[in-house]
Amino acid sequence: MTKHKDREFGQNLYERLEEITAVTTLHRPDFTYQQQVEAGRARELRKMKKFRFQLLHRWLTEHFAPCRVADIAGGKGLLAHLLQQSGWQATVIDPTYQPLPDKYKDIATGQRVRLDAAEQVHYLNKPFTREMGQQYDLLVGMHAHGCNIAIIDAAAAYGCGFVLFPCCVIDEPLIPPIGVHWLESLAEYAVQQGRAVAPFRLNFKGQNIGLYDAGRCPVKDVINL
Ligand SMILES: C[S@@+](CC[C@H](N)C(=O)[O-])C[C@H]1O[C@@H](n2cnc3c(N)ncnc32)[C@H](O)[C@@H]1O
Repeated sequence: MTKHKDREFGQNLYERLEEITAVTTLHRPDFTYQQQVEAGRARELRKMKKFRFQLLHRWLTEHFAPCRVADIAGGKGLLAHLLQQSGWQATVIDPTYQPLPDKYKDIATGQRVRLDAAEQVHYLNKPFTREMGQQYDLLVGMHAHGCNIAIIDAAAAYGCGFVLFPCCVIDEPLIPPIGVHWLESLAEYAVQQGRAVAPFRLNFKGQNIGLYDAGRCPVKDVINL
């Protein structure tokens, strides 16, 4: 796909997601990617192609008060580490343990931050199951292999919020019909489960459209854009 077609496809998909989730508008706080753009952050965001964990950390901390969060399929746990630094109670749930990276870029200061080898995040070395959702206020799934439906099911069962950046459908119990994008299927599934779900976008390379539902996670009253 050319860059132009790629952008057009992403925009069309985003608009379809807004249509699917429009029924839930009344139930959710109004913080969309568009607001961020209008607030003049777009230029800054365009520079942030590589830093998806940092961007998601910033989005989460801007929109939610610290809470008990599970970083499902969290891999090396950088997102959980950043949230922990911001006062959140963060746990990585992933069957394949990986240590934290030894450095990362702080997008607020532009500085490279070194992580001490002794630095750790709370890590549950197990596959995620729906029942685990009881323990958390917010379930985050960034490329959470095979866990997206289970995360939505946990939110429906226990009232926790979720934030998903889905990638592939492999190992998921729901296969989208031909011609329906995986994100659309997930959005429709979440709406059917009664979730107040909405799309949002972060400016990193690749699949950068997320789906969120605040659930019982405490939302910040004033959004500092
Ligand atoms: C594509 S990686 C994503 C890692 C990280 N979130 C990121 O965005 O770079 C997928 C991760 O899913 C984890 N995973 C696979 N099956 C899982 C399951 N049932 N429950 C939780 N994590 C799982 C893998 O161990 C791997 O770390």
